[in-house]
Amino acid sequence: MQSITRFQAMKAAQQKISMVTCYDFWSAQLVAESAVDSILVGDSLAVVMHGFPSTVHATLELMLPHVAAVARGAGDKVIIADMPFMTASSDFSSGVAAATALIQAGAHAVKIEGAKHQLTLISHLVEAGLPVVGHLGLTPQAVLQLGGHRVQAKTEAAAEVLSQEAKQLERVGIAALVLECVPAKVAKLIAQSLDCPVIGIGAGVQVDGQVLVLQDLLGANRGFHPKFLRHYADLAGDVVGALNHYHEDVSQGAFPALCESYT
Ligand code: KIV
Repeated sequence: MQSITRFQAMKAAQQKISMVTCYDFWSAQLVAESAVDSILVGDSLAVVMHGFPSTVHATLELMLPHVAAVARGAGDKVIIADMPFMTASSDFSSGVAAATALIQAGAHAVKIEGAKHQLTLISHLVEAGLPVVGHLGLTPQAVLQLGGHRVQAKTEAAAEVLSQEAKQLERVGIAALVLECVPAKVAKLIAQSLDCPVIGIGAGVQVDGQVLVLQDLLGANRGFHPKFLRHYADLAGDVVGALNHYHEDVSQGAFPALCESYT
């Protein structure tokens, strides 16, 4: 049985946790073959897979088929699914319904952005036996309020607020915390102050694990070069190169060859 609770043991053993986003069956199968520890079906799928300008466009209806497709391909990987925009912020029963639907679609935990009014829902879900991952720092669903994708907690006062919010989330029982785009020094202190694992993205190396968007780390998204990103492949280049090669072969009658044809 896949469970996010093993991440706590990994933190205790000082083993780093690797996580990537995944939105479909095809890539989930590849992640399942790899050593990566876990999958996040992030609401970033609204941007990466559907071309929307931000994650506020990820509705529950949009997310659910992606969660189900990933679950069919993910083997024994732990799957975390994002609670879509406003589902943790509107009425309590919508939050419970959204979390239930994501779990029933195949997720093993849900991720919720913020630590204000969301605390009541998180506490309720945890008490009901549903693992919750928190998300603080740059919370993309609040991008309109934050005024863009900016590094957070840059002042001492803001770092203190962030640290208090992280502690409140731990008190209500989160299984892990995603910390996005905060100074490495701040992330390190928060990771040290919590028992639950802190998974960073743009939060330096002194946290308990890292998460990246799969398409970003594979170099599939041309033109996206935030400071925190490392490209582990040039997928866009490889794919366009392969397509041009195929096109040339077709144009010149070099594909299919005799051995690729039925006699
Ligand atoms: O939706 C997402 O991809 C995320 C990660 C960037 C942490 O929340």
